[in-house]
Amino acid sequence: MPSKRLLSGMQPTGGAGLHIGNLEGALRQWVRLQDEYEMYCCIVDWHALTTMYDNTEAIAPKAREVAAEYIAGGLDPQKCAIFLQSHVKEHAELHLLLSMVTPLGWLERVPTFKEKRDMLDERGGGDESVSYGLLGYPVLQAADILAYRAHAVPVGKDQAAHLELSREIARRFNRLYGEVFPEPQAVINEMTAVVPGLDGRKMSKSLGNAIYLSDDADTVAKKVMSAFTTPTKIKKTDPGVPENCVVCQLRRLYDPENYSLAWEECRSGARGCVQSKRELIEILNAELEPIRRRRKELLDDLAQLEEILRQGAERARATAADTMTAVRQAMKLR
Ligand code: TYM
Repeated sequence: MPSKRLLSGMQPTGGAGLHIGNLEGALRQWVRLQDEYEMYCCIVDWHALTTMYDNTEAIAPKAREVAAEYIAGGLDPQKCAIFLQSHVKEHAELHLLLSMVTPLGWLERVPTFKEKRDMLDERGGGDESVSYGLLGYPVLQAADILAYRAHAVPVGKDQAAHLELSREIARRFNRLYGEVFPEPQAVINEMTAVVPGLDGRKMSKSLGNAIYLSDDADTVAKKVMSAFTTPTKIKKTDPGVPENCVVCQLRRLYDPENYSLAWEECRSGARGCVQSKRELIEILNAELEPIRRRRKELLDDLAQLEEILRQGAERARATAADTMTAVRQAMKLR
């Protein structure tokens, strides 16, 4: 059994499960690391409540979709514990204890808090839609990680600030009560740290700019045809700027061997955006088709999926319970 531990998680929110930003930014790294680490892959359904508190019935089915997508994307449930956060109550206990040692000012400064507060505001919720839980979001995330005394946390770049806060909370706890937690390291792949969405902003469930693992081939084709390219490349012969073009960026990601020729032709005006889009559609669909098929098979056998989640939670609980014994001891709680 590998001695170093890894934990990561994704939220079961948004319209349609995971998108290719989640896949390339995070999940691919988990898959790559599953032989090296003792792995805990969480579906953070309690975190989803921070924005879906008024639509809770959508969370459980979405969580099953995400579980299927973890496995379809290459995670092996024999090697890693795949589980729901809400099935392992130790996360809640640790969240509460950590909340006592987390200064309020640290949380108010987190950029994602301000973004989410504004988003909820735009939805028309007013002041009462911004909960105590939303402010505490990064404390719950720290609890997810520290419950496993994880060394590594593979994530996309948007999670860097949360990870930094988890490290600070771990340090503060260790200083107050003695060394219980290793400082968790973010593992970020520079090439896929920020996968762009169809409109050039970061691909995100809440921006309507994502390609989902659940999208069929026609949907992927339609979405790619609508993607932003170089705004000044109107005719085929106009020079493109691949560095600023979503289609070219995704081409590099999905075709690392051959992309440079396509980029050259785009720059020199030897090819137009429509050709680039058509080729990208082929490449993307070839890559996504086996994931789609496996995802569907898994969702067609929900009983098996529930069993995987049950076993995953059991393994996770054993490790988290050990940590909680150490935490209570360090805090002199008896
Ligand atoms: P979430 O659900 O927003 O995203 C899941 C993972 O996907 C990455 N990601 C991206 N990477 C590259 N490009 C993109 N466009 C892109 N969009 C998303 C995210 O960085 C993340 O790694 N707070 C977390 C969930 C969480 C968690 C944890 C993560 C809760 N507890 C403990 C790690 C450890 C979140 O909202 O991720």
